[in-house]
Amino acid sequence: MNKPFPDSEMLQKPVRVPAEAYISREYAAQEQERLWRKVWLQAGRTEDLKKAGDFITYEIGSDSVVIVLDESGDLAAYHNVCPHRGRRLVDVPSGERNACGTRKNFICGYHGWTFGLDGENTFVEHEEDWQGALCNGRGDLSKVCVESWGGWIFINLDPECEPLADFLGVIPQMLEPYQLQNMRARWRKWIIFDCNWKVAMEAFCETYHVATTHPEFNAYGKFRGWSRNHGLHTNIGYEAPKGMEEDTGKMRVGTEGIDPRATTAEMQNYTWEAANTNTTEKLVEVANRLVDELPEGTSAAEVSAYWIKTAREEDAARGVVWPEVAPEHTVEAGTAWQVFPNFQIGQGVQNMLCYQARPYKGDPDKCIFEASVYQLYPDGEEPETQWEYTEPEDWPPVLQQDFSNMAAVQEGMKSAGFAGAQPNPYMERAVASLHTNLARYMGAGEPVPLD
Ligand code: FES
Ligand SMILES: [Fe+2]
Repeated sequence: MNKPFPDSEMLQKPVRVPAEAYISREYAAQEQERLWRKVWLQAGRTEDLKKAGDFITYEIGSDSVVIVLDESGDLAAYHNVCPHRGRRLVDVPSGERNACGTRKNFICGYHGWTFGLDGENTFVEHEEDWQGALCNGRGDLSKVCVESWGGWIFINLDPECEPLADFLGVIPQMLEPYQLQNMRARWRKWIIFDCNWKVAMEAFCETYHVATTHPEFNAYGKFRGWSRNHGLHTNIGYEAPKGMEEDTGKMRVGTEGIDPRATTAEMQNYTWEAANTNTTEKLVEVANRLVDELPEGTSAAEVSAYWIKTAREEDAARGVVWPEVAPEHTVEAGTAWQVFPNFQIGQGVQNMLCYQARPYKGDPDKCIFEASVYQLYPDGEEPETQWEYTEPEDWPPVLQQDFSNMAAVQEGMKSAGFAGAQPNPYMERAVASLHTNLARYMGAGEPVPLD
């Protein structure tokens, strides 16, 4: 990838994003070779693999990868294909998101070739029939690059790829203070959805839609969101509400003139019940006590400060220690990072919300969409969660509101009357950045300036 990153100044100008990247079959077919086999992809959490032999698979288009802890407990990854005659080595059970389990070795179900956790062939029935030719790795599994950061396992199918740290750019430095590797999943849901993976990611990478798609949140104050580009990746955040420090801008506590003690509680209860993200049991519990614990007339900023401090202290007392993040850092880090091309981390000091989308069976009109929510737990009290296939009506209602746009965008983009997307250059810069960077890999679909 020799082309330079898009420059931030250019991305501040209005652009049109051609619909091709979302709806073209040819474009979707080319993504496998040009994109998915070239980038680092988030493929799982490190806590999913605990002891030697524990494995998960990750499916990306026509490629499948087995990720395993080897005999020394190190991460290893292999193409999920038997080198004999090409059978998938590990089958993904029907209806499951991926395969997982524990193996001493991997035995191909077709003719029994066997491989150790190091990927080396340990058994071939009638090996002598090959007259010694199954040497030099010909009988072994093909390796895939694997690294981890932030509690996530990343894979890269390109043997010549750059190190993960180089690919991630400023992200590790910006998210390191949040100690995301210490969080554990509260829930993980996935679905096969009727839209392109980019339409799905773009439903969550901007705050411009919040006022219209999620009108319930308007009652707690209107906030202006921003979006910034950092080479391959982007982040989004909110500007400070009037009269509040910008670092508390993420926490909506209510509109002026309304009792912020009550609106904080209402907002927290609504968020917990309708979204089940961006908050924790402790934050909700303390919010519900604000009316009793603070005098009438307490300012929004004071309510917010008391609520956060109390929740932090009570969590610490039960062994849930939130990391300290400097206010200036919170301002810069915003609320969420879009990790190119298909992973979003919405970070907090005690919880996070992640989204991912990938193609489904090469169909540009379909994707596998996933959302997962993580938080800090006392040692030994972490829940064991699995990926659950979840029908649209069983997702939290706020996500259903987002879903209502996704398939409709996919359909609308095919209209003869649609000339291409025109993202908001300030609030939806992540969309322009994604497509400018995609074009560097794909050699097609570059956004064009709007004069
Ligand atoms: S295809 Fe795997 S042993 Fe034959
Ligand atoms: Fe939304």
